[in-house]
Formats: sequence, C-alpha cells, structure tokens
Amino acid sequence: MRTSRRASEISLSLTLALDARAKELAREGRDVINMAVGELDVPAPAAVREAATRRIESGDVRYTPAPGAHEVRETIAAHLSKTRGTPFAPEEVVVCHSAKHALTNTMLALVESGDEVLVPLPAWVSYVEIVKVSGATPVQVPPGPGCTYDASALAAAVTPRTRGIMINSPCNPSGYVMTRAETEAVVALAAEHDLWILSDEIYRRLVYEGEPAISPASLGDEARARTVIVDGASKAFAMTGYRIGYLAAPVDVAKAVTRLQSQMTGAPNTISQVAFRRALEEEPPEVADVVTELDRRRRFLIGELKRLGLETPEPRGAFYAFPNVARYLDERGAVGFCEDLLEAENLALVPGTAFGAPEHVRMSYSLDLETIGNAVERFERFLGTRGSA
Ligand SMILES: Cc1ncc(COP(=O)(O)O)c(C=O)c1O
Repeated sequence: MRTSRRASEISLSLTLALDARAKELAREGRDVINMAVGELDVPAPAAVREAATRRIESGDVRYTPAPGAHEVRETIAAHLSKTRGTPFAPEEVVVCHSAKHALTNTMLALVESGDEVLVPLPAWVSYVEIVKVSGATPVQVPPGPGCTYDASALAAAVTPRTRGIMINSPCNPSGYVMTRAETEAVVALAAEHDLWILSDEIYRRLVYEGEPAISPASLGDEARARTVIVDGASKAFAMTGYRIGYLAAPVDVAKAVTRLQSQMTGAPNTISQVAFRRALEEEPPEVADVVTELDRRRRFLIGELKRLGLETPEPRGAFYAFPNVARYLDERGAVGFCEDLLEAENLALVPGTAFGAPEHVRMSYSLDLETIGNAVERFERFLGTRGSA
C-alpha cells in the first residue's frame, strides 16, 4: 500500500522515539536513567483516581456530547474565568482527547494549504508537525539569545500569508516564561496583521519564581477574541495516560472544532472527563507539593549544569533544563550526542534538534534528587570522554 504524502511528510516524534529506545534498553536489563520523559514521576492525585474509579464502577460510561459533557465544560469555563481574568462560557470550551489533540483540532479548524503559521523557537516537537498535518506551512522563528523570545524576529517573519502564531509559556523545552510586555507585543502584532494566537498553557501551573505566566486572553477583549487557549490534565495533575485536554476559543471556532471532532474522534473519554473535572474543582493539594519538589530539583540541576560550565537558560517554569552542548557536538549533532550518551552511559536526553535548537539537549528533572545526581555524574563522565571541539 502507498501511504499518503501527508503521512510520509510527518516525522515520528523524536521524544517518543527516544523514550521508546530508553525503555527497550531498560527491558534488556540496563540501568537506564530516563531524562527524556515529559511527565511527572508521581501518581495522579487521590481525588482524581477516586473519581475515575467511582465512575467506572457506576457502570455509567457512555458517550458524552461530542464537545464534552456540559458539566465538564462548565467547570472548565469557571476555572478559566477565575484564572485568566476574563469570563468564559461553556460554549467556548471543547473538551478534547488531549492537549495535543486540542492543538491539532484548532489547526484543522483555522488554516488551509498556503497559509503560514509562526512558530517561535525553541518549540515543542509537535508544533511544526501539527501545522504540516493541517496543510499549512510552519514558519520557524529563531529565538533571542539564551533561548528567549524575540519579538522583532517574530514581526519580521510576518508575510501576507501569515494566519496565526503559536506560543507556549512556560515553554517546553526551555522553561522560559514570557513577560507581560512580550505577551502584549504578540497581541499587538496579531492585531496589526489580523492573526489568531494559539496559546498553549499546559505548563501554566508549573512556574517556580517571578511573575506567573500570562495568557494573551487576559489582555483585553480584542486579545481575547483572537486567542485560542489550549490546556489539559497531563502535566500539573500527572494525568498523562488519562488523555484529556481542552481548548477555549470564540464560539464560532469552538463550533467548527466540535464539527470536526464529532466526525473524526467523537466525544473524549467519559472517565477521564469526570476525573479531570474533579481535579479542577478540588485543586488537589498534591499539585502544590509537586511544584515545591520540582523547584528543589530545578535548582539542584541548574546549579550542577553551571558547575559543568554549560550555558543553560534559567527555566522559570515547566520541568526541563535545556543546556547548550555545542562544544561537545560532532558532525552527527545533538542527535548523535544523545544516541552515544544513551549507549555509553544509559542516560536518555532529548536532542534540541527536536525543538529547533540543535546546539542544546533537553533534560527532564521530573526524577527524584538522587537519580538526578546520578544522571549528572553520568553526564559529566560522558562530557569528559567527548572533549570539547
Ligand atoms: C508544550 C506541550 N503542549 C502539549 C503537550 C501535550 O499534552 P497532552 O498529554 O495533553 O497531549 C505537551 C506534552 O509534552 C507539551 O509539552
């Protein structure tokens, strides 16, 4: 069978590929430390598990309406109204099978072939591919120094074909949290060129110092009318396997997404909807504990990377460090570096290549402190064998 051009042009997620290789080595009995992971190392909060179990046991696990159960959309709208400083209605919310699915749905609803979408780098591995799936063209915009956000580069990348901008704050992979001024500049650029803003806020709860992350939707009515918020259960609630997320958008966009979703996948998982609703209603105390613990790990790892002399952007949010390893790379780049590191030291990292930052590697610090300490030892030993170019 011949596969479609669409499928052939999409690359397999490098993070998932690396994670799979690390798990394969672990199955072979090797003592692998997996810093390629994009999920927390704790179980979902007790209230979430209880809600899911209770729903299964009730026997009432049928389809919900395609955009999600009304009470779940109500809870999400109330949560957004409280946290984004502007009122949201349930009709503006579509519950999706994950945040990734919400991003894909949004793109399919908003662009056509020939359109361009701006993706400021470094960017999560799937953004570029999701834009490609939709038939539009991703335009990758280089970062400012130290993997920061560069407003002037973004403005320079706008063409008559540009339709939208994807932002992600806190950022996976850099942990960078956009300032209010930077977010305002995105809104101003969008207003000037009549663009929409797709704001991926999945790491919003995981900010460790300084100002919280700001949603463009909270910057006035005009900004709100141009913004699609994507968020979900995976990261802060440790619910990656539940596969549940949502988007919030002006009603016409929410309706367009609902039409697509109703035909392509149907309603999201009923059990996961109920569990996520409980998480949003209860704000389980486990989340605050996770943030405190992640902050300790973050400080430790960043300190260690500095000790190794690696230039590392200060991650204010998410749970990744993103050191620059340019001087240790050979012609195989960061991909070869990570492959060799995994084989030699059983340490899995993700090459920055996956995020449009080929001089970097991403290290998840969602591991206990002792394991991070062991990982740093392995990393240091490996750097010693590479010498610097
Ligand atoms: C920036 C970003 N957005 C979205 C997602 C996807 O989350 P979900 O598990 O809800 O698909 C991830 C997961 O790694 C992510 O890092």
